[in-house]
Amino acid sequence: MNDVLYRLYNITKDLRHLVLAQIFVKPCFLGLLAVKANSLSNLDVNTHIPIVIGTQMRYEVTGHPLYKEIATFFIDMVNSSHTYATGGTSINEL
Ligand SMILES: *[C@@H]1O[C@H](CO)[C@@H](O)[C@H](O)[C@H]1NC(C)=O
Ligand SMILES: *[C@@H]1O[C@H](CO)[C@@H](O)[C@H](O)[C@H]1NC(C)=O
Repeated sequence: MNDVLYRLYNITKDLRHLVLAQIFVKPCFLGLLAVKANSLSNLDVNTHIPIVIGTQMRYEVTGHPLYKEIATFFIDMVNSSHTYATGGTSINEL
């Protein structure tokens, strides 16, 4: 939803769409990524990937570098230390 609303904001330039997107960002998750904390342990990563995709879209729409840093940190962490040979990325995905 945050991804869609950022895309909509980019088209409409209506700040209500940008504000509405914030409802779907789960600050307790993105906040830890923003301070580069490993927040993925015991988390179902797949259900959080859409939030990060939306965060990357926020960067692309607003140009704010923090959101690119968050998305880049997330994918680097998943790719470097949270991916199993089977392709799973978190608990119960072996
Ligand atoms: C945002 O809108 C501009 C202008 O229409 C467009 O060029 C750009 O590709 C859009 N960005 C995204 C991420 O969709
Ligand atoms: C994931 O890690 C591999 C091995 O280091 C690397 O080749 C690949 O480019 C990385 N992918 C991403 C999306 O960072």
